Amino acid sequence: MTHIAIVSTAELWWDIVPYFVLAIAGVATWWRYKYDKFGWTTRSSQLYESKLLRIGSPMFHFGSFVVIMGHIMGLFVPESWTRALGMSDRVYHLQALILGLPAGIATLVGVGLLIYRRRTERSVFKATSVNDKLMYAVLGCALVAGMCCTLLGTTAYGEEHDYRQTVSVWFRSIFTLDPRGDLMLQAPIYFQVHVLIAFILFALWPFTRLVHAFSAPIGYLFRPYIVYRSRDYAKKNQPMGSRAPRRGW
Ligand code: HEM
Repeated sequence: MTHIAIVSTAELWWDIVPYFVLAIAGVATWWRYKYDKFGWTTRSSQLYESKLLRIGSPMFHFGSFVVIMGHIMGLFVPESWTRALGMSDRVYHLQALILGLPAGIATLVGVGLLIYRRRTERSVFKATSVNDKLMYAVLGCALVAGMCCTLLGTTAYGEEHDYRQTVSVWFRSIFTLDPRGDLMLQAPIYFQVHVLIAFILFALWPFTRLVHAFSAPIGYLFRPYIVYRSRDYAKKNQPMGSRAPRRGW
């Protein structure tokens, strides 16, 4: 007798699709890095327009940074840990609301300004790929859906839901290779929509200008303002420079 395994909706969307998304994001990022190194760029358009960029870009980047930090805390840190530190669930959700919502708004306004600039400045618009246009739309939707989660899930405006017992546990279960899709089904629909939009964004990531996030010049923040080199190199009859001398070219 043959058994036909029927995959439930929960298993398909929350146990299987995340691995497909991770595979697409991982393999395509590697492929792009290997075969499109010259295209691995923000495709900076600062030369075409800088006034709006100077406002929109920091708003978007600093806002995103706080949003990412909030996600790391909310998704990776188990509820039992913050409770053990004496932080009640109410206080946890209050700080997520007070920090997360303004950060989400700043990111959204920032990206809104960047999209407006891209649409109204002819040369910037011409330098925008189809993939990037799609990415901006998905990014905007992910931000709006995320803020709906915070507003509806943690305040009296919607059904209050402790996502750290459902979404966060499911999220961590992906990485321990024991996916708990059943928990995602217990979360309100707006959490599910938010995460599905995030899946689309992650799958698009390697094909867009977002790849520059993987090579952000973080070292610039810590490098000395002026680079001094010791004269000892010269004394020891070695060429000045940071690299050991090599033969040939
Ligand atoms: C699998 C990936 C993701 C999961 C599981 C997830 C989950 C969540 C959860 C549970 C909340 C509610 C947080 C709270 O109220 O304390 C939230 C909020 C939010 N999410 Fe996500 N998210 C994901 C990806 C993303 C992405 C890719 C973006 C941005 C493009 C994003 C943007 C936001 C924003 C703006 C909020 C509002 C609160 C804040 O600023 O942190 N999320 N997300």
